[in-house]
Amino acid sequence: MSADQRVAVVAGGGRGIGRRTAELLAGRGYRLIIIDLQDSLDTVNAIESAGNEASGYVGDLTDQIAMEHFVPWAFDRWGRVDALVNNAGISLIAPAEHTTLSDFRRVLEVNLVAPFLLSQSFGARMLETRSGSIVNVASIAGLVGVADRAAYNASKHGLVGLTRTLAAEWGGRGVRVNAVCPGWVKTEMDAADQARGTYSDADITTRVPMARFATPGDVARAIAFLADDQESAFVNGHTLVVDGGWTADGSWESLRLQKR
Ligand SMILES: NC(=O)c1ccc[n+]([C@@H]2O[C@H](COP(=O)([O-])OP(=O)(O)OC[C@H]3O[C@@H](n4cnc5c(N)ncnc54)[C@H](O)[C@@H]3O)[C@@H](O)[C@H]2O)c1
Repeated sequence: MSADQRVAVVAGGGRGIGRRTAELLAGRGYRLIIIDLQDSLDTVNAIESAGNEASGYVGDLTDQIAMEHFVPWAFDRWGRVDALVNNAGISLIAPAEHTTLSDFRRVLEVNLVAPFLLSQSFGARMLETRSGSIVNVASIAGLVGVADRAAYNASKHGLVGLTRTLAAEWGGRGVRVNAVCPGWVKTEMDAADQARGTYSDADITTRVPMARFATPGDVARAIAFLADDQESAFVNGHTLVVDGGWTADGSWESLRLQKR
């Protein structure tokens, strides 16, 4: 392993999209640092079993003191950080009129404030070397409204706005900032939301032109593209939609289904 090997930090890499992203980036030659509320042993073990390097860190991204320890630790681990993936997020499905203020604030803290703090901390170091790529995992809920998701959608719209603003502010100093906007993805987040009876597989597959959920791999490949300074060298401030055509499709339902 050489000193010029790239290093990526994946927030929320213990499972789901984050885990798949960490594994994919490791397979493409990055050393991985994974931070999650839960331990990331499964992800680290999978990466190491494939002959690559990874370190896990248990921490709450909304805990500013914990992050003040984590960021220097992450830099010191291999002496550099080339890519930051702000993937950790939480869902909240509730009618707006029944969403408590504390729930609303918690969703904003995890989905928007934490990516800002991590971007600020890692971005400051990236600006010193005039290189680096930050990828925020937003959602199509950051581009369009979906009922019963006031806090979640506000947080993801905010994350898209943060992405564009940091891209404008830092692009001239070598640091690119982009977002991916997945549609519905088959992960534990989806399983937990469906277990509460909020929607079904058919609700989603009927609405998506490509008639399926995204896989974590679909999203991970888009993240890896945006993270890579060669692959996406001139892509900055972009929101890469990974939704099987959901947001592009203005068809009414019978018309969409007639085309299958
Ligand atoms: N699953 C979907 O349908 C979907 C669709 C669009 C966007 N997204 C977004 O993709 C991202 C990943 O989603 P997923 O489906 O893999 O979710 P997931 O719930 O399966 O995994 C999220 C991970 O983030 C970690 N995490 C949550 N809060 C944290 C905190 N405060 N500090 C540290 N770690 C924390 C969790 O422990 C977990 O490992 C999220 O930002 C989510 O909003 C998901």
